[in-house]
Amino acid sequence: MSGESIHYIDPQHIGIIMDGNGRWAKQRGHSRPRGHKEGAQATRKIIDACQELGIRYLTLYAFSAENWSRPDIEVKALMELLEFFLSRETKTLIKRRVRLHAIGRIEELPNSAQRALKKAMAATEEFDDWHLTLALNYSSRNEVLDAAKAFAQAISSGETSPETRDWADFAKHLYTSKIPDPDLIIRTSGETRISNFLLMQSAYSEFYFTDTLWPDFDKAQLEKAIACYHKRERRFGKTGEQIAQPTA
Ligand code: IPE
Ligand code: IPE
Ligand code: MG
Repeated sequence: MSGESIHYIDPQHIGIIMDGNGRWAKQRGHSRPRGHKEGAQATRKIIDACQELGIRYLTLYAFSAENWSRPDIEVKALMELLEFFLSRETKTLIKRRVRLHAIGRIEELPNSAQRALKKAMAATEEFDDWHLTLALNYSSRNEVLDAAKAFAQAISSGETSPETRDWADFAKHLYTSKIPDPDLIIRTSGETRISNFLLMQSAYSEFYFTDTLWPDFDKAQLEKAIACYHKRERRFGKTGEQIAQPTA
């Protein structure tokens, strides 16, 4: 086995922790909301780039449950930006046949943001080839809590056997039940933490960290992350020899 360029298959699902908008703005003497606005431009380009590169599933961490503790003015700017983004981008998503999903406690978002989101999701629900998921008011721990409640209910209603020890019986109650697990998770801005993003789903994901701030992240950087992914050996518990010779 050469040990070089081991994983030839492209990632099917990429998750991105889009971080560094605030620092991008600060470096230029701009307000933090201006950084988020620039970040939204990068987001737009990366959605296109994923389609050009054949990535069928893209999940973007846009607002964490913990982000409510930021200054009111910043939270308000982020919610307005979300609505603006949806109003501008839905047409493009339809044109590109991308289905929009949302994960997180969506019912706690401002009403107008919820309406914009539902409208955009309904307008794209017929598509199946490309999937864009926005993580909004998202927390992996909240997701596990919500899934545990639904799982308990499924057991008490008899829908699920109380004897089950099958992860799939639990995972179908996660927000991501219709989305495959991410193959690759990218975090920008030099931070090397997960910040409560897809903890259950990333059990066997590959991670890629870059110092680039989110507004500066572009298609070339995405290609670099994918090239790095190709060099990884995903073993899923097996030995390297078994991966090299699947019949062994
Ligand atoms: C990421 O950029 C966007 C959100 C969390 C909404 P940040 O706003 O966290 O940027 P930094 O980390 O302060 O630079
Ligand atoms: C994570 O970034 C959340 C999003 C990118 C939406 P944060 O900037 O909020 O994460 P921490 O607080 O630095 O861990
Ligand atoms: Mg940050």
